Amino acid sequence: MKKGRPGKQRKTWHASPDERRAQHKNQPQRVETPKRVRVPPMPPITLVPEAGSWLWTCRAGFEAQLFEELAWGKKNPILLGPALVASEPFTGENPLPQPPAFARMGFLISAVVRSPAEAADALRSPAGGAAGLKPSDPMKLQCWVPDTDVANARAGELTAWDETISAIRSEEGQGGNDPETPWKAVEQNAWLGQVVLIGPGVAVVGSIRAREAMSLSPGGRARMKRTQEAPSRAAMKLDEAIDWYNVTPGKGDVCVDLGSAPGGWTRRLAERGARVWSVDPAKLAPDVLKFPRVKHFQQSAFEFEPEEPVDWLFCDMAWRPLEVAQLLGKWARKNFAAQLIANIKLPMKDKLPVLLRVRHTLQDAGWKQVKMRQLYHDRDEVTVTARRA
Ligand SMILES: C[S@@+](CC[C@H](N)C(=O)[O-])C[C@H]1O[C@@H](n2cnc3c(N)ncnc32)[C@H](O)[C@@H]1O
Repeated sequence: MKKGRPGKQRKTWHASPDERRAQHKNQPQRVETPKRVRVPPMPPITLVPEAGSWLWTCRAGFEAQLFEELAWGKKNPILLGPALVASEPFTGENPLPQPPAFARMGFLISAVVRSPAEAADALRSPAGGAAGLKPSDPMKLQCWVPDTDVANARAGELTAWDETISAIRSEEGQGGNDPETPWKAVEQNAWLGQVVLIGPGVAVVGSIRAREAMSLSPGGRARMKRTQEAPSRAAMKLDEAIDWYNVTPGKGDVCVDLGSAPGGWTRRLAERGARVWSVDPAKLAPDVLKFPRVKHFQQSAFEFEPEEPVDWLFCDMAWRPLEVAQLLGKWARKNFAAQLIANIKLPMKDKLPVLLRVRHTLQDAGWKQVKMRQLYHDRDEVTVTARRA
């Protein structure tokens, strides 16, 4: 392991001139940014979308990013209200090969309804429903509200919608073979029925195949359990990222964790049986250092290189996204790691052009299957996963 000079104990790391030169050595090629889009102001009341369009939900406050992503994809978005955007439909065998990074969930709208009975009707009706949906198809029902303070205050109404729709489906003989969980829906190639309460007594109804859904959690809210041992939000971010990536670092894997202090991710990885090389100029919590499989390199990630390739690269560095992308790119070019999970901070106003450059930098460097998503536990940041082969 190359060791640099020990860092000062502080949260934000300022690069030395040497590090700066290293960071700038592999500048990404210039990336054409699509024409910037004028995002309309937030409507004073939530607009009702049309059947046949797609409904998207995002973290409240990120509607403009989602709107612009959809506009760049030529899907004519409409800003409906907080956390809600509609767009032209996504079609084809695999309608969402690369869903918008700022969407938590999206689906094709069958109808806008005013009662659970109308919702049950819309879920049964193939006409206007998702392509290929038959009335007898098994479906896991998911009723949810957009993730805003106003809508969350109405979440108590969801149980009544869920129970009434489920009762109607069983009375009519549908629902008998409905999967109990979204994971079973994936196994059975079944549907996720979507009922979204967008206003008092108004719900948007639609469906999507569980295998094609962006998330198996209602509204994309994949809440991770906060445990006593790992109480930080950072640990929940990692748990959600691993769930989403769907490959788990396991026993014997060697993981490098860049930007690791105070050690939430490092601890989680060690608990899974991995060996962790934890890189941060700041101190790790003493209870994390107690794990025999954890080794702390108290130095900047820009100065650290492994002596031999590792299985996983994790990165949660609080640092400029383009410089972090170049660093992750170097790891791909030098074949230092096989798989990547990184959290990229996006504190700037214009997030999309930066994210586009991050994607290009990673892909140009040789990372494959680069996926980006603002997960439920992400704030001004997105999670990125990729692999070398
Ligand atoms: C959000 S915190 C990481 C939290 C961590 N994942 C956890 O679970 O506890 C960001 C970290 O990035 C570190 N950081 C910033 N610049 C760095 C650099 N050049 N090299 C390594 N770490 C850096 C900071 O010291 C800070 O500890």
